[in-house]
Amino acid sequence: MTKVEWQPEKLNIRRMLLGDLDEVMRVEHRSFTAPWSRQAFVGELVENRLARYIVAEYDGRIAGYAGLWMIMDEGHVTNIAVDPDFRGLKLGEKLLRTLMSMCMASGGRKMTLEVRVSNEIARNLYEKYGFERVGIRKGYYTDNQEDAIIMWADLPPKLASEGEVSL
Ligand SMILES: CC(C)(COP(=O)(O)OP(=O)(O)OC[C@H]1O[C@@H](n2cnc3c(N)ncnc32)[C@H](O)[C@@H]1OP(=O)(O)O)[C@@H](O)C(=O)NCCC(=O)NCCS
Repeated sequence: MTKVEWQPEKLNIRRMLLGDLDEVMRVEHRSFTAPWSRQAFVGELVENRLARYIVAEYDGRIAGYAGLWMIMDEGHVTNIAVDPDFRGLKLGEKLLRTLMSMCMASGGRKMTLEVRVSNEIARNLYEKYGFERVGIRKGYYTDNQEDAIIMWADLPPKLASEGEVSL
């Protein structure tokens, strides 16, 4: 159930900055049972040359974020989260589409990710965008030994109604 009166013109998807991390951590803790540490995000933003992170900023507030590692022609999705107050508003979809566009803009032709077996909502999102299950990592999640489903998608030449972006 969203608590936001949605006005699309107030949404801005842009690169994540260190100054976003207070709010990113708030969303991270509201979204995951085993949240990343702040230091992990700092490392991604400052040291990891393969990493690209974006935020969905709504009216000055961080409503969601997502990350990608570009490894050769493969985009590896590291995380995607939407603040519970903003769920069901297609923000997860917009973030994923933006990652796909960024991957294509960097010469990527396929993308991969891991998702908890129990995370039906995220699996639905990924399947909607052509991700297919190719395998399982047994006990991948250390907090509850849950299995991860490994998914891959071949990227289309262009996403419908969107150009390629490099944020
Ligand atoms: C997964 C997540 C990012 C989806 O974000 P969202 O903005 O609420 O999702 P969207 O509104 O963009 O919905 C896109 C698609 O996701 C799926 N989906 C979203 N909410 C759903 C729900 N309540 N039940 C089933 N499927 C759902 C649907 O396929 C939907 O497309 P549709 O509306 O055409 O059916 C969000 O639920 C979240 O942050 N979850 C916690 C963190 C997490 O699990 N991240 C993924 C880690 S792998």
